[in-house]
Amino acid sequence: MTSINEQLTQKFQDALGKSFGSDFQEVDPQVGPARDLRHGDYQANIALPLAKKLGKNPREIAQTIIDNLSLETICETPTIGGPGFINLKLKPNYLEAQLKSLYGDQGLGIKKIGNSSKVIVDFSSPNIAKEMHVGHLRSTIIGDCIARTLEFLGYEVLRLNHVGDWGTQFGMLITYLKEVYPDALTQADALEIGDLVNFYKQAKKRFDEDPTFQELAREAVVKLQSGDKETRQAWQLLCDQSRREFQQIYDRLNVQLTERGESFYNPYLEDVINALEQQGILEKDQGAQCVFLEGFTNKSGDPLPLIVQKSDGGYNYATTDLAALRYRIKEDEAQQIIYVTDAGQSNHFAQVFQVAKKGNFLPDTVAVTHVPFGLVKGEDGKKLKTRSGETIKLKDLLDEAINYARKDLENRLQTEERQESEEFIDHVAEIVGISAVKYADLSQNRISDYIFSYDKMLALQGNTAPYMLYAYARIQSISREGNIDYENLGENLQIILQEDTEIELGKYLLQLSETIKEVEKTLLPNRLCDYLYELSKKFNRFYENCPVLKSDEPLKTSRLLLCDLTARTLKLGLSLLGISVLERM
Ligand code: ARG
Repeated sequence: MTSINEQLTQKFQDALGKSFGSDFQEVDPQVGPARDLRHGDYQANIALPLAKKLGKNPREIAQTIIDNLSLETICETPTIGGPGFINLKLKPNYLEAQLKSLYGDQGLGIKKIGNSSKVIVDFSSPNIAKEMHVGHLRSTIIGDCIARTLEFLGYEVLRLNHVGDWGTQFGMLITYLKEVYPDALTQADALEIGDLVNFYKQAKKRFDEDPTFQELAREAVVKLQSGDKETRQAWQLLCDQSRREFQQIYDRLNVQLTERGESFYNPYLEDVINALEQQGILEKDQGAQCVFLEGFTNKSGDPLPLIVQKSDGGYNYATTDLAALRYRIKEDEAQQIIYVTDAGQSNHFAQVFQVAKKGNFLPDTVAVTHVPFGLVKGEDGKKLKTRSGETIKLKDLLDEAINYARKDLENRLQTEERQESEEFIDHVAEIVGISAVKYADLSQNRISDYIFSYDKMLALQGNTAPYMLYAYARIQSISREGNIDYENLGENLQIILQEDTEIELGKYLLQLSETIKEVEKTLLPNRLCDYLYELSKKFNRFYENCPVLKSDEPLKTSRLLLCDLTARTLKLGLSLLGISVLERM
């Protein structure tokens, strides 16, 4: 099914060709949903930039385009608004036909990309022996949504967990544990992650205070890197311990990841240095190997270096990312690589990409994108903390959301005098709680910081997961009440758009594919959330104004079809956000 946008775009391009010659046939006519619905349903903005280019009056240009448009089957006669926008009002017949094909389309009008292209999404990526924090939670939720969307569109997606499992922290940790708790280095399960994190803190303290300890820790790193058996084994145990903890979070969030940590790239680090050397861009600066950057300067305006090998010969975070980038392009053959981390790492990625370009291992055919996000804050506007002032454990954070959801459900059951099984309550609380956390994160423009509030994210009104889940469950309850099988609404379906609210709903249902395209382009999940929220509101308005089960045929079936399309759209949209629906709640 071709989206309305695509159909209109095609018609406009034909008209542009006719009006201004074949050179203009490829120009993007800038068609999109109307900003002000009083003037129409869609608008095309091309007349303004075109007029500028041709040195003519935009309204005249708009008129010329309109004269050459043949849109009779789709729209009423276009009008010109403001300085030269072309306003388009869809014809009811056309809308009805479109909705009918949408109903028959399993993919709800979303076109898959032609030839599968390989994308790597690098997300979540916590650090071993350190706590997984809310920043990693954001990365996990946003990265998963991006991966799901691209997978749905037909991309081949490799979801990589670039865990911090290498480096100096292990030297300290192993040396420290040898002293105080050697069992932890030989026995699986001797440690809990909480302990591990505490041990790490103590080890760091020792490291900062005691030069002999420092020396031993450095030796341990060398041993680890040179493959010393005992040290490797200890390292493996520590990693396993963290990994198990991380996995519990992923399971609860229902997120799939392939772990390929920093250690994986260890054998390729030297090649990076060689490649940079070969390009003649490696320079020694105070003993360290560097590449000097363009566009990054210190206070006195001198170019800053990206250090790729420290003066002691060790490699760093940037070297690993350069090695990973090379590997992903050469071995994984990725055409697009997306990194989801907090905005604080924007410079890091810009620098890595620049050096990779200069080093000649990032070809123009491969798109690399850093997808940054803001901070999660507590309701006091400060860093998110527990009531007693400690950093919040992700597990507790999710549990708390589920508890809130459970209390809310139990209250409702009481007021409605409803009886439900323990199982039902558990299931609903779990889904609502987790969905609320995910949705609260995804519905914000990811660049901005957001305030973490259980009350807000679990509210039944507003742009929240529960609101959307309700809309879905309500539609399912209509079919239960009327004994309706949404998948078989009969043959010769007729769609009748009579009331304003149902016309509005119908039009909006047809915009799903355009919305998904937006998300693909901008990697902004909140675009999809906004759409789903607006859709739920439009549905609720329709449902308040238009009787469904009580209407006579053929109106009844037509309205049921709108209900079903809304439910399917919500279900699909929410699934791309990593949220599963509830038939009843
Ligand atoms: N481990 C890093 C952190 O916790 C995130 C890694 C992101 N991915 C990457 N390829 N650098 O900040």
